[in-house]
Amino acid sequence: MTKTDKQAVNTGRRRFLTAATTVVGAVGVGFFAVPFIASWQPSAKAKAIGAPVDVDIGKLEPGQKLTVTWRGKPVWIVRRSNQTLTELASLEGVLRDPRSEVETQQPAYCQNKYRSLKPEYLVLVGICTHLGCSPTYVPEGEAHSLGPEWKGGFFCPCHGSRFDMAGRVFQGVPAPTNLEVPAYHYESETRIVIGVDPASAQA
Ligand code: FES
Repeated sequence: MTKTDKQAVNTGRRRFLTAATTVVGAVGVGFFAVPFIASWQPSAKAKAIGAPVDVDIGKLEPGQKLTVTWRGKPVWIVRRSNQTLTELASLEGVLRDPRSEVETQQPAYCQNKYRSLKPEYLVLVGICTHLGCSPTYVPEGEAHSLGPEWKGGFFCPCHGSRFDMAGRVFQGVPAPTNLEVPAYHYESETRIVIGVDPASAQA
């Protein structure tokens, strides 16, 4: 074997060793990655099928909305001002279900004039009850084309349904019912847990 042939063989062997080490390295990564993935997958899966979602509402200012995802759906938490709460009563004559009589649209503990556990915080599933689009939050006083009487609420861009600041549907729009209020409870003054009602949380 000539010197050149020996060099060629050595180079070939080096390439083989480098490739072998890389494969072992990759297998090593794969081996360690599997337990890690296995440890987070059930929790992500659990979330998708409905695990409760813990939300910090401590920084929410009056008029602001926060969105989280629960069971693959958007859930809104809106902090309402005293003015907004007062104005809710003045809308009753133009709403389809002002007293939340359709029972499927909120838990019994939210079947009240604010549709919430605490008047200040509104919690809603952000999906239109017509055909499932996600309405847009349009606060009172914000530039829009909803008319001078608009007191703030939600507008569905798909077919024009409108909902007030308690998620109650207006008359004369395609959506048949109020927006849904999910099960939830307060874990503390500044924490809401979506998906668990107060009675279950205490049990
Ligand atoms: S989906 Fe909202 S109005 Fe039709």
